[in-house]
Amino acid sequence: MNKRRATDPIAPARLPQDVDATQALLRTGDYLAGRDLATVVFLALRMGRPLLLEGEAGVGKTEVAKVLAGTLGRELIRLQCHEGLDLAGAAYEWNYPRQMVAIRLAEASGAGSAVAASLYGREFLVERPLLSALRERPEGPPVLLIDEIDRADEPFEAFLLELLSDFQLSIPELGTVRAPVPPIVVITSNRTREIHDALRRRCLYHWLEYPDFETELRIIALKAPGIRDEIRRELVAFVQRLRQEELFKRPGVAEAIDWAHALEALDVTRLAPRTVTDTLGLLLKYQDDIVKFGEDEAAKLLEAIRAEC
Ligand SMILES: Nc1ncnc2c1ncn2[C@@H]1O[C@H](COP(=O)(O)OP(=O)(O)O)[C@@H](O)[C@H]1O
Ligand SMILES: [Mg+2]
Repeated sequence: MNKRRATDPIAPARLPQDVDATQALLRTGDYLAGRDLATVVFLALRMGRPLLLEGEAGVGKTEVAKVLAGTLGRELIRLQCHEGLDLAGAAYEWNYPRQMVAIRLAEASGAGSAVAASLYGREFLVERPLLSALRERPEGPPVLLIDEIDRADEPFEAFLLELLSDFQLSIPELGTVRAPVPPIVVITSNRTREIHDALRRRCLYHWLEYPDFETELRIIALKAPGIRDEIRRELVAFVQRLRQEELFKRPGVAEAIDWAHALEALDVTRLAPRTVTDTLGLLLKYQDDIVKFGEDEAAKLLEAIRAEC
């Protein structure tokens, strides 16, 4: 077993040294993290543990990994999970065509039996994200993003367990490949199904909520700086109000940012019910949700937020 000691640094000089520094680091990547998220990110880095981020779509889970890679100057290795994802897609594959060529060449030169032993060497291995993440890099270990793990089938989680606890992969034909220094692992889940206990236990866990009004205002100011102050307040208030409605899919931060860009492109200076209904497809992505919001409904919501503002 190659258990890392909690004090083993990943790359001590460049990792944030406390929660404030972590929050500041994320901020330099234009990511606004609350103190709770900054704490769990700091601890995951310090303790060398995978971080499991769960929350609705569009709340900023994937972005945490991207910003960490960017701000720490590490490579981002992304494994996008999907149904049917298997070892060959996620970890490694043997390069059969290349093996065949090697066999043919060896046969032709009369060295057929000698080649058999070398057919399962590194040069015949095709690296996929999980194996690639174990390789050493001059700039320090990469950020391994295992995105939307809830989309993968449950057996795939079991396969991840060895990787997440020991940062190693067993390849039957080759042996065990171990990371000299463990990667920074971020796993996200939109919670379309529950993640197994065994995997949760290996990770530090954080549930990411939709941001509150003030935070979302600041996010929009960062991500859509061209939009005027007044309309920014209205649109954030509207999105926050919309999230309280009975919807099949509530709009995330991503949708709020898109809407801000759209309103800017349309030169909107004040939200009118018609503007809202005309652009609703940027916030709501299901017809059942959209039909609930005719102009009357939009007018009511606008009235409600103006009364509050
Ligand atoms: N706290 C935040 N600070 C800055 N940008 C954010 C924040 N939360 C979400 N975003 C933005 O919202 C968008 C969606 O985030 P993403 O990470 O893709 O969501 P998720 O992975 O949870 O579906 C990204 O463009 C991201 O920049
Ligand atoms: Mg995501």
